Amino acid sequence: MLHIDVDNVSLLYDTPAGRVSGVHEASFGMEESEFLCIVGPSGCGKSTLLNIIAGFLAPTSGEIRIGGKVVTGHGMDRGIVFQDFAQLFPWRTALENVAFGLEMKGVAKAAREEIALKQLQLVKLEKFARSYPHHLSGGMQQRVAIARALAYDPALLLMDEPFAALDAMTRDEMQRLLAEVWRETRKTVIYVTHNVAEAVYLADRVVVMTPHPGTVKTEVPIRLSRPRDPLSVEFLEHQKQLMRHLSEQAAKV
Ligand SMILES: Nc1ncnc2c1ncn2[C@@H]1O[C@H](COP(=O)(O)OP(=O)(O)O)[C@@H](O)[C@H]1O
Ligand SMILES: [Mg+2]
Repeated sequence: MLHIDVDNVSLLYDTPAGRVSGVHEASFGMEESEFLCIVGPSGCGKSTLLNIIAGFLAPTSGEIRIGGKVVTGHGMDRGIVFQDFAQLFPWRTALENVAFGLEMKGVAKAAREEIALKQLQLVKLEKFARSYPHHLSGGMQQRVAIARALAYDPALLLMDEPFAALDAMTRDEMQRLLAEVWRETRKTVIYVTHNVAEAVYLADRVVVMTPHPGTVKTEVPIRLSRPRDPLSVEFLEHQKQLMRHLSEQAAKV
């Protein structure tokens, strides 16, 4: 089993005005095939932490270990999906976008197109394989980004508020689709959101962060069977529990 450790990670940003805390002494662990959500108020350090796990930023202190190996930079063992629709290559079709990582890995053209098409099927976009990003809606572009991140079979999928810029109805649809994709792939996922209902819908466990300078406040397991019903009493109770953790800390600042 591939254990992931986030061990006492801090990052300070150097700015012209001095050093600003990005994230402060954050720690948690996770197991293979777990779906972990990180929730916290805007500016608490969720993106900073995810970028450290991705290897795009180096922590000022502490370390990330994936399968015991310390993260020192970005690698193909981690796939990333951001909030921004502009993360796709505009000059590549959906299929070519999804095949990108495989191309980097040196997979031959026919094989990578076959794998890419399978990933597009997984996110129900096989009919749009030859479309360019600007012909796709925001939700569709995010589905291509998910397919692209999954295509080269990373050990860990990192997602930073991937549906936050979508309208509410599309967002609900995307959450259902992602839950389905996860059921089929059992990827290890770290999913950042400030949306508590989204965390309860998706996660096995939720890591709750404090406001800036953010650290891990507590962890809440979500022991609800899937698919989950956002209107069930148990669902709403979990949601309330998370809201309570978040508002307790808001009251302190
Ligand atoms: N590039 C940067 N330079 C300086 N400060 C930054 C930078 N990126 C983020 N910060 C600061 O770090 C803190 C955490 O930011 P961020 O990780 O983006 O939070 P979140 O994703 O939870 O909204 C915030 O106070 C933010 O202003
Ligand atoms: Mg963020």
